[in-house]
Amino acid sequence: MSSPSPEHVIENQRQDWNRVAGGWEKWDRFFDEQMAFLNHRLVADARVRSGMHVLDLGSGTGYPALLTAQAVGTKGQVVGIDLAAQMLDAAKRKAALLNLSNVTFQTGDVTSLPFEQTSFDAVTTRFCLMFLPEIPKAVVEIARVLKPKAWLASAVWSAPDKNPYLKIPIDIIKQFVEIPPPDPTAPGIFRLAKPGELAGMLQQAGFVDISEHEFLGDVQFSRAEEYFSSLMDIAAPIQNLWTKLNLTQQTEARDRIIQTAGQYRNGSVIALPIAVRMVAGRKPG
Ligand SMILES: C[S@@+](CC[C@H](N)C(=O)[O-])C[C@H]1O[C@@H](n2cnc3c(N)ncnc32)[C@H](O)[C@@H]1O
Repeated sequence: MSSPSPEHVIENQRQDWNRVAGGWEKWDRFFDEQMAFLNHRLVADARVRSGMHVLDLGSGTGYPALLTAQAVGTKGQVVGIDLAAQMLDAAKRKAALLNLSNVTFQTGDVTSLPFEQTSFDAVTTRFCLMFLPEIPKAVVEIARVLKPKAWLASAVWSAPDKNPYLKIPIDIIKQFVEIPPPDPTAPGIFRLAKPGELAGMLQQAGFVDISEHEFLGDVQFSRAEEYFSSLMDIAAPIQNLWTKLNLTQQTEARDRIIQTAGQYRNGSVIALPIAVRMVAGRKPG
């Protein structure tokens, strides 16, 4: 079977993430608390400073753009772009609540950035690049819009085996329906999981001082049911697999997911491991 065109992938991504925008807003406080450490790491890796003009790619509901806006202060400016207008609407509401007037959000595709060359002092991006149909092309675009010596800092998911948080439901869905192994170059959650893959693309695009670290953590829930419903509310790619099950299978799969997640109980919480690949690089000066 031929792979879908880039335009087709982009359109599906737009629809997928718009569909789950309400879920992201519902669970915003929870995931902000659980994942904020990644935003701080990105802001540090991108060497964000007061007064900078920073671009955040695939901002969704505002991560890490909102933290970056606080870091650059009133003299700086942050632009967040994303395909999904409804995700960005939530980001805009949060920016208003936080009284941040130095961050704007606009729809756009990372593969074809609507900005002049050398417009930005830094670029950040969390959990977006692996969903692009043409990642090397996007990395060249990022290099184009960065000023000389400016940093790109990115976070993508690492290997499935190190990410029970995401792997548990995928494995259980596979117990009910056959899901062909993904084309290793097809966009998806684990597309950039392999060590060196994204770093190699940065190198190809001319970035220097490239660093790559696998950052281990966990997401903590008070109950396994909370894990199940939150993940199903926000994880568009897993929702897509879930719809392949009939209602009886969904009931059984839910029970198995909750039971498996329960095995990760650690004291008063269920701590599901995550592994995130942090890749940064600098445009030569
Ligand atoms: C998992 S969400 C991550 C959102 C946010 N960065 C975060 O970490 O919470 C992935 C986001 O990437 C966006 N996205 C996917 N492909 C994109 C593209 N080609 N251009 C711009 N945004 C894209 C989606 O619309 C979605 O909001």
